Amino acid sequence: MEPTKLKKVIQGIPKAELHLHIEGSFEPELMFEIANRNNISLAYDSVESLKKAYKFNNLQEFLDIYYIGAQVLIHERDFYDLTWAYLKKVHGQNVVHVEVFFDPQTHTDRGVPFDVVIKGIYRALEKAKSEFNMTYKLIMSYLRHLNEEGAFKTLESSMPYKDWIDGVGLDSSELGNPPSKFLNVFKASAEQGYKLAAHAGEEGPVEYIWEAINLLNVDRIDHGNRCLDDEKLVQVLIEKNMGLTLCPLSNLELKVIQKMEDHPILKMLEKGLLATIHSDDPAYFGGYMNENYYETAKALNLKEEHLKQLAINAFEASWLNSDQKKKHISYVKTYFNSLSY
Ligand code: HPA
Ligand code: ZN
Repeated sequence: MEPTKLKKVIQGIPKAELHLHIEGSFEPELMFEIANRNNISLAYDSVESLKKAYKFNNLQEFLDIYYIGAQVLIHERDFYDLTWAYLKKVHGQNVVHVEVFFDPQTHTDRGVPFDVVIKGIYRALEKAKSEFNMTYKLIMSYLRHLNEEGAFKTLESSMPYKDWIDGVGLDSSELGNPPSKFLNVFKASAEQGYKLAAHAGEEGPVEYIWEAINLLNVDRIDHGNRCLDDEKLVQVLIEKNMGLTLCPLSNLELKVIQKMEDHPILKMLEKGLLATIHSDDPAYFGGYMNENYYETAKALNLKEEHLKQLAINAFEASWLNSDQKKKHISYVKTYFNSLSY
């Protein structure tokens, strides 16, 4: 498809974003604005010099900068502004459903109360629901470079907000921090009624994906790039209809892949895996949903049928109920049918 047409087609697809760290949507311009009003000085003197620092050789180099950026978020209004800016942006890209991660420990460990963080995020999500008719789920992620006790404290802090939170996730430095480290807190989270997701197989080996499935009992795998290394695992993922939330621009920027042409998503679709496309940390990796779709489609020469399958897969892998899924999937089908006329 020629670029202008491809962009237009992608823009029109009703999309679901299932893998988005709200702290990773912190655009440098807003970061400077909030830093100024909170009297915090950033280590960079301009938006341009900050952006120049966004060059990463691996996940850890990114995380080091990402956690520094998040430090300017202090007040409820800051979390609200951050979340609202993201929701407005993706509403403009025809994203109709979002499942948003937040990292409570990034904030509570520097003295910002859990209540402040969640209230700001929640208020923006509710506004998007009423103004944009957008649906959402909120996912609280445990930081895997910290210990399980810290995750348990986070679970406890979330108890007054159980009705606002749909599930838990597991993110941050993957290598050396296998899912098994969080076995007990995931079990306790499930007992509280939370759905479960975990980052696995982004940089880590296939064993981490096995652990996320067999030990943590997750409902969804974030990334999961490495699953193609293990044919038996692929079969299990297909049998379980397990969603894999891939983030192509993130993979490229963090050198999980060397070039976009190497991205495994087309192979995954061809095998029948429930693979989907998302943005991870769009302010750091050069693009939101549309840009992730576009760069992937261009590099892998995706056809309309692939784009349609990816869009359907995202609703299928979402935590919406089955009636909502059906409704969205029928809209996706109607949209693609309309393109042939
Ligand atoms: N991987 C792991 N943890 C993260 C990421 C990521 O891409 N983004 C924010 N936290
Ligand atoms: Zn992620």
